[in-house]
Amino acid sequence: MPQGVEVRVLSWAKFIFIYFQPMQKICPSLRYPFDWEHRRPMFHNDVFFVPEYYTKHSSDKFTNLQTYFGNKNPMNIEYCSGNGEWIIDKALKHPNINWIGVEMWFARVKKIYAKMIKNSLKNLLIVSGEGYAFTKNYLQDCVIDNIFINFPDPWPKDKHAKHRLIQQAFVLELKRIAKKNGTATFVTDSVAYKNQMLNEMIGWNKICYSQGDYGTSFFDRLWRSKGLEIHYLCYENS
Ligand SMILES: C[S@@+](CC[C@H](N)C(=O)[O-])C[C@H]1O[C@@H](n2cnc3c(N)ncnc32)[C@H](O)[C@@H]1O
Repeated sequence: MPQGVEVRVLSWAKFIFIYFQPMQKICPSLRYPFDWEHRRPMFHNDVFFVPEYYTKHSSDKFTNLQTYFGNKNPMNIEYCSGNGEWIIDKALKHPNINWIGVEMWFARVKKIYAKMIKNSLKNLLIVSGEGYAFTKNYLQDCVIDNIFINFPDPWPKDKHAKHRLIQQAFVLELKRIAKKNGTATFVTDSVAYKNQMLNEMIGWNKICYSQGDYGTSFFDRLWRSKGLEIHYLCYENS
């Protein structure tokens, strides 16, 4: 190999080593901690895993939230966090609030995790699992101050509406975990889902919502760029 080429190859190798080595240290990627056969609810790398199709839930496997965060700060939860953009921004802007992000698609959990590590966030708990299963089996009564669900999967066809997250059983769980006067805010572009939310939020007071600095997310920008109207529904636990 001519000398110049050799030097160039070496310098590329050095560049790759120097560039990616610290990146890997700063942003280690999250791996699924068990195979199907050995799946069980567990904390791993500061993420709480609730496996799919698991039936032997036991809440003693989950630490009390105040113990987990080590403080008595207010506790906010976002379901359907996607790539985590919205909740990471909130956790950075409000360090005196504890945040819980629940996302069931592991590829997206990994993205939230990378952002959490990159920003050294200590006030965020990521839950890798399905929202209803986590809430029903692991959250105590009256522990959450504010609940947020931004752009939950709309399941637009009527025959698929049964798959929507916000329905009676889940709403009852939200009421159970919310503190008195706690709030629930839902954001959607889907008119059908908005109507379902309005019908299902029995036992909650609908309150006016002032958009203020609500924050944004991937799907927020996507649907706005297509000219869709975004609906904000806000409730208070009476
Ligand atoms: C349309 S995306 C919205 C993501 C994000 N909130 C945003 O605005 O960009 C819906 C997300 O909810 C997650 N999801 C759907 N049903 C869920 C459930 N029952 N529990 C937890 N996550 C769920 C999906 O995996 C997906 O990442």
